[in-house]
Amino acid sequence: MNISVIGTGYVGLGTAAVFSELGNNVIGADIDETKIKNLNKGIMPIFEPGLKELIERNLKEKRLRFTHDNKEAIMHGDIIFICVGTPPKENWETEMKHVEAVAKEIAENMDSYKVIAHKSTVPVETGEKVKDIIKSNLKNDVEFDVVSNPEFLREGTAISDTLNPDRIVIGIESERAAEMMKKLYNPIKAPIIMTDIKSAELIKHASNAFLATKISFINAISQICEKTGADVEKVAEGMGYDQRIGRRFLNAGIGYGGFCFPKDVQAFIKIAEKYGYDFQLLKATNNINENQKKYFVETIKNRLRDLKNKNIGILGLAFKPDTDDMRLAPSIYIIDELQKEGAKIKAYDPEAMEKAKSILNGVEFCNNPYDAAKDADALLILTEWNEFREMDLAKIKSLMKKPLIFDGRNIYNPESMKKEGFNYISIGRKDVA
Ligand code: UGA
Repeated sequence: MNISVIGTGYVGLGTAAVFSELGNNVIGADIDETKIKNLNKGIMPIFEPGLKELIERNLKEKRLRFTHDNKEAIMHGDIIFICVGTPPKENWETEMKHVEAVAKEIAENMDSYKVIAHKSTVPVETGEKVKDIIKSNLKNDVEFDVVSNPEFLREGTAISDTLNPDRIVIGIESERAAEMMKKLYNPIKAPIIMTDIKSAELIKHASNAFLATKISFINAISQICEKTGADVEKVAEGMGYDQRIGRRFLNAGIGYGGFCFPKDVQAFIKIAEKYGYDFQLLKATNNINENQKKYFVETIKNRLRDLKNKNIGILGLAFKPDTDDMRLAPSIYIIDELQKEGAKIKAYDPEAMEKAKSILNGVEFCNNPYDAAKDADALLILTEWNEFREMDLAKIKSLMKKPLIFDGRNIYNPESMKKEGFNYISIGRKDVA
């Protein structure tokens, strides 16, 4: 099938790579000319495991190419995926201008029947809006169908998530479009949920909101664990065996970050508000998340007292492992707060330092965890990269001024850390010294 993907961010690139791998003839389009030139040479704009190999292979096999000419992509695709950004506005409402501009461009350039599927996370009733924009800007007398096909991939596992999704959601109105979408997804073995367009749009926001709430719930429990001397890891394990709950996404930490949960939770609150519903549960989810970062900083301040000229080593900057994405990463807030108190920051992240350099000021970036630990009064673990689980802790201890670790991701066992001679403070577990 001929497939076009407009917008080459995480979702667009994952979609283009996977559909070409499945044998379709795919064009990925983006208005960023440099990005397109690089992509055609196999240079990736993001770090995402497996993406480069998949794109290179399909470029070579000529099943995939990239263009900065949206018109070319619109003419090419039987199905056109809209994967452009839906960033937050100042007030956290969703910025829809990119989706709307693409819809208009599609209308102006399509010359045969097309299925137009939006994959970007969008407010409910976007399908209606896209349909109206296309109808009122059509240049040729051609038919089209609008589909909502939300994407559930996670950064860091984008390719495997796209190839092996838990489910495929297709919000659709016409049989003709349904057949095409089913044919496209046929090679992927996953349940297909066919719904109306609005329900599909809501499934996406509801899913992200639910997952964020699950994280905030365990973070709230972690606070109670700290106050009572219980262990949040044990509580999560015990809860997780209940199949109705499940252990996944019950990892307490320094709060969720990235460009999905924080913005989608806020956007969903706004969407609900627009339809007259005060989404108090989600407001609490968001507040708990903000407090979790603040609480972590407070813990550090209480322990170190005066932060002025204290050396703090940071391990992990990205909002999660296996990505170089720094957007809305908790590390940004935490580092900023510590710097305000006069702390000197040295940081290391396996992949995110290039991106971090344009966001963080006054930070000394290091080549490895050991350099970040050198002469440190405290070491902070902010992203649970596997590399940090396998560090030579004796070496870390010998390099630090004081053996004090604040682990925002609970990657070590407190008793083992005690044996290693660390003062170890983690989330929702007893401090050890
Ligand atoms: C999230 C969803 O998981 C995807 O299904 C969705 O497609 C995506 O948003 C999106 O809407 O585009 P992503 O933000 O890439 O994916 O990453 P997650 O693995 O969900 O992690 C999000 C944040 O939650 C990270 O900061 C992570 O550290 C945090 N988290 C996650 C926790 O603090 N605890 C957990 O147990 C799980």
